[in-house]
Amino acid sequence: MPARSSAIARPLLESSGMKAIDLRSDTVTRPTEAMRRAMASAEVGDDVYGEDPTVNRLQEVAAERTGKEAALFVTSGTMGNQAAIAAATRPGDAVLAGEGAHLLLYESGAGAALFGVQIETVGAGGFFSGSEVADAIHPVDVHYAPARMLAIENTHNQSGGRVFPLEPLKEAAAVGRDHGLTVHLDGARIFNAAVASGTPVATWAEPFDSLTFCLSKGLGAPIGSVLCGSSDFILRAHRARKQMGGGMRQSGIIAAAGLYALEHHVERLADDHSNARRLAAGLQDLGFKVDPFPETNIVLFEVERAEGFEQEILARGVLMLALTKDRIRAVTHMDVSEADIDDALSRIAEVAKARSR
Ligand SMILES: Cc1ncc(COP(=O)(O)O)c(C=O)c1O
Repeated sequence: MPARSSAIARPLLESSGMKAIDLRSDTVTRPTEAMRRAMASAEVGDDVYGEDPTVNRLQEVAAERTGKEAALFVTSGTMGNQAAIAAATRPGDAVLAGEGAHLLLYESGAGAALFGVQIETVGAGGFFSGSEVADAIHPVDVHYAPARMLAIENTHNQSGGRVFPLEPLKEAAAVGRDHGLTVHLDGARIFNAAVASGTPVATWAEPFDSLTFCLSKGLGAPIGSVLCGSSDFILRAHRARKQMGGGMRQSGIIAAAGLYALEHHVERLADDHSNARRLAAGLQDLGFKVDPFPETNIVLFEVERAEGFEQEILARGVLMLALTKDRIRAVTHMDVSEADIDDALSRIAEVAKARSR
């Protein structure tokens, strides 16, 4: 998601002494004291030689949790998706993805620039059926880029953190597989989907050849994502990570935060979901149209002149993102409490009142 005009606003707010309630993204969290202690005491080694015990442990835990053979610690969700593309495709291939997919819109053209793929969309609004996948796969013909990979995003960021329901997801993945595609899950927020649905991550991951999940979003780690898949796939992705400059050295320091997050910050995602619903209900009470009502931690609502609203609410210490000219996004996370949500709502009420004058 783009960093917008409020990008340097938080340090300014904090230096002015105003309490900032930062709802731009779940990426803005800062490590807790306990997480910092885990980082400081991490055993480390040179991970380019495969000798960092903490990175190795994180990779083992991630593979185990997702039910895959192997895993690779990467710097970001973007690097995880791109390493997956590199492992599954050749230049000139097509990757099928839902509308609004992160790897289509928000990875700076990396699939094309780095690995020579063309990304084509399937279905509408980020969700699609098996028959839509079948329709999107072109016949063998010299005109077409052959589809080699199907990517599904869950939860789907741009549609307000909606969960791709399990049965349609399995069906879409199965059609992709039947056509010989590598089926990849962009599960940046798959732990949100797991907690919201009460269905374990391994069940969500099962229909896929590969998946990425982010440690630095709702899970609250400062850096990092993990790519999981078969040993062969991870071997190819490992090479791509090196090509992208993602071979890190004593990265156990940051992997320790990820391990801590997986142990301590998964179940608490339910609090973020409940805060998102609280925010959404409060916004509705103030007369805003919230669409969709949040299933996880992302709230989308409509306002006139969204960029103006972003600035007006920023002046009251609440940071949100204007996504379009009439749509605002607010994301809950571990650094905002229920009381912060109520505080944000009263500041939003002031803006609404000022606007109605
Ligand atoms: C669905 C999805 N995939 C991938 C990413 C990329 O993650 P990163 O910012 O760590 O590159 C994001 C980031 O917001 C995302 O929302």
